[in-house]
Amino acid sequence: MSGGSDHGGDLVGSVLELEVGEVAHGGHCIARHDGQVVFVRHAVPGERVRAQVTEQRRGYLRADAVEILRVSPDRVTPPCPYAGPGRCGGCDFQHVDPAAIRRLKATVVAESLIRLGGLSAEEVAALNLVVEELPGGAVQWRERVQYAVDPAGRVGFRRYRSHEVIPIDRCRIAVPEIQQADVTSRRWPGVSTVEVIAVPGEPVTVLTRQRRHSSRGMKVVRGARRVRRSVLGREWTMAPDAFWQAHRAAAERYATALLELLKPRIGERVWDLYGGAGLFTATLADAIGPTGAVTLVEVDPRTEAERNLADLPQARVVRGRVERVLAAGELGPVDLVVLDPPRAGAGADVVAAISAAAPRAVAYLACDPAALARDVKEFRQRGWRLATLRAFDAFPMTHHVECLALFEPRDSAERHHGADRASIRDD
Ligand SMILES: C[S@@+](CC[C@H](N)C(=O)[O-])C[C@H]1O[C@@H](n2cnc3c(N)ncnc32)[C@H](O)[C@@H]1O
Repeated sequence: MSGGSDHGGDLVGSVLELEVGEVAHGGHCIARHDGQVVFVRHAVPGERVRAQVTEQRRGYLRADAVEILRVSPDRVTPPCPYAGPGRCGGCDFQHVDPAAIRRLKATVVAESLIRLGGLSAEEVAALNLVVEELPGGAVQWRERVQYAVDPAGRVGFRRYRSHEVIPIDRCRIAVPEIQQADVTSRRWPGVSTVEVIAVPGEPVTVLTRQRRHSSRGMKVVRGARRVRRSVLGREWTMAPDAFWQAHRAAAERYATALLELLKPRIGERVWDLYGGAGLFTATLADAIGPTGAVTLVEVDPRTEAERNLADLPQARVVRGRVERVLAAGELGPVDLVVLDPPRAGAGADVVAAISAAAPRAVAYLACDPAALARDVKEFRQRGWRLATLRAFDAFPMTHHVECLALFEPRDSAERHHGADRASIRDD
């Protein structure tokens, strides 16, 4: 330790000199101080830094790199003036070259699969994991932005692990229409959040909420009351606060990747669990044709899935919680399953119900690699293998990464290998 005030055992505020090791899930790197783990933000693996301790917990510390003593070749000047220690907590890696950020995310996914998913290093290496870049670059990609509002009515983003709002002029990772919308220069008294949504060719929508993440008290103050989007030649309309992918290019990329992985066949039966407005249902309905069937399960009526899919007779919407619908056994036989659960993942009961239905393949889209890894473990314990894993940099500059996993029954792989061996013998 160098410098560092003595807080009578309380290290918060002290400055430590640290060797920065590997990246860890959550937007920080790992270092050690007196045998304790230190989660260091604003650093890059391989750097030597002076880092100020921001939090002391039983068994670990959190710290911000405030001076870089040995600089990584992957370090860059952040494009955003609000990035950095003690400032906006929205982006984790503005100080890292975008290609290097993707490599850090690949490391996090791989580590999660080993630590939480039970895969060996060899099994992970066999997946040849790369985090794929989405079109549009590292900034100006976010199609919806939710600002917090400070007591003076100014909008901004929260400081990392704090309720304090850092007012901003514009968010550099938002699409240009959001950056140019006259929102940050105004005061917003009496509301807790202001959300801005910008879809190409549509007027910008601005909505306010009395309470964060609540649809109660949601008010559209500018733009249309329903948002219209166009993806892969189809139109979607939904409530502005219904779920849609944040990255402008994500919906199309995921739908295309899903077809590449699942290779749906004419006449197959599909479940689209946590289906939202029906992006994947529509894509798969086209692929399986009118003799097939896709059942979408979704709890939130704001996605308006029924109306968005009304022209597809092979698509059906079941309203309810996936856990309950699967437990009730309402969905009938299935060949392919798609699931795209919220951040916490699907969980053991949902995985067990999917496994019991014995589809020929399962495609799982996940926005949290740790939650995915826990569910990978559940699938593997039930006789499934992780056949393919793709990952997308759908949240550039942040630590977030989207993964698309393909599971196949292990015995089908064994059947393939058995068939290969049989044909070699036949030769
Ligand atoms: C990550 S989004 C995916 C939506 C859709 N696949 C898409 O790409 O547009 C997750 C969706 O699951 C829904 N949801 C969350 N928990 C659910 C549950 N327990 N049962 C059913 N739907 C749920 C949310 O309302 C949301 O629309």
